[in-house]
Amino acid sequence: MRTPRITQGRILTGDRPTGRLHLGHYVGSLANRLMVQGTHECIFIVADLHTLTTRHAPDEIAQMGDHIHQMVLDYLSVGIDPQQSLIYLQSGVPETAELNLIFEMLTPVTRLQRIPSLKDMAKAAHLDNMPFGLLGYPVLQAADVLLMRATHVPVGKDNEAHVEISREIARRFNHLYGDFFPVPEVVKAQVRSLIGTDGQAKMSKSLGNTIYLSDDADTVRQKVRAMFTDPNRTRADIPGRVEGNPVFIYHEIFNPDPEEVADFKRRYRQGTIGDVEVKRSLARAINTFLEPIRERRATYEAQPGLVEDILIEGTAQVRKQARETLEAVKDRMGLYRLPA
Ligand code: TRP
Repeated sequence: MRTPRITQGRILTGDRPTGRLHLGHYVGSLANRLMVQGTHECIFIVADLHTLTTRHAPDEIAQMGDHIHQMVLDYLSVGIDPQQSLIYLQSGVPETAELNLIFEMLTPVTRLQRIPSLKDMAKAAHLDNMPFGLLGYPVLQAADVLLMRATHVPVGKDNEAHVEISREIARRFNHLYGDFFPVPEVVKAQVRSLIGTDGQAKMSKSLGNTIYLSDDADTVRQKVRAMFTDPNRTRADIPGRVEGNPVFIYHEIFNPDPEEVADFKRRYRQGTIGDVEVKRSLARAINTFLEPIRERRATYEAQPGLVEDILIEGTAQVRKQARETLEAVKDRMGLYRLPA
């Protein structure tokens, strides 16, 4: 049973189910979620409807069930605790779509057209014409946030402009129909995005430069061995560059022994240590970090149906609150209702 707690507010955040989560997700958002899990009431959304804004082809839709399952496993395996937090499936709460429609009436098209991330998403998905639904992405997101009357929304940089739309819609609704929605605060990610294993600015599935939370130890060793380092360093006795070098950036994040890291850096700059040794130690550190995550994952995987049960239970809880919010919204607006 979930125990009611006094908390510092209600958090809503989550991800589109587009594949397995990786170290970049951990550093950029999951770690932060684990921190607030004890102090805030947390609701995590598996935003399958948002996925449709750029992936509506049948073969893409066919993969979604698996992606949802894997993503919830990722959440659970890093330590999101279903006893404390809710995890729910967006499409399992159809009130979302109804509130979305109401919010569409409160949102100027020109306002949405000024959001750069939407154009970027259209481009990345090779959509020549902006779909109506993609333009409405932040409005749908506002429906998620406000349906749960969330007070805080932790998001990455791409999503900050979207939460701004949630705030504007909340204010607009409150102004028109009377104070009702909390104006949700953006909680900005502390960590910039994690550099990819290939040295590209961002770890991302589409770039193929990821280490997944679900990678086994051998895969991690292999990926670390192939990591981009200082390209000018063709021999171990050439002084190397530590700054901006992904191997050292990862060491700083994942190696729990700062003295070893300092020693590696010094010797790397002097040209008295090989990349092989630095990388071997990094693979060990990442594997040590991932081991408890793998163990938790295995525990959940060993119980067939458990992941789905957690999602069903979370969705049911959220839906209860969603119905209440939607009823209250219609009351506030004074919408004509057929007699029951
Ligand atoms: N837009 C988020 C993403 O980039 C997913 C999301 C959907 C979300 N609804 C949300 C995040 C509500 C925070 C709050 O994947």
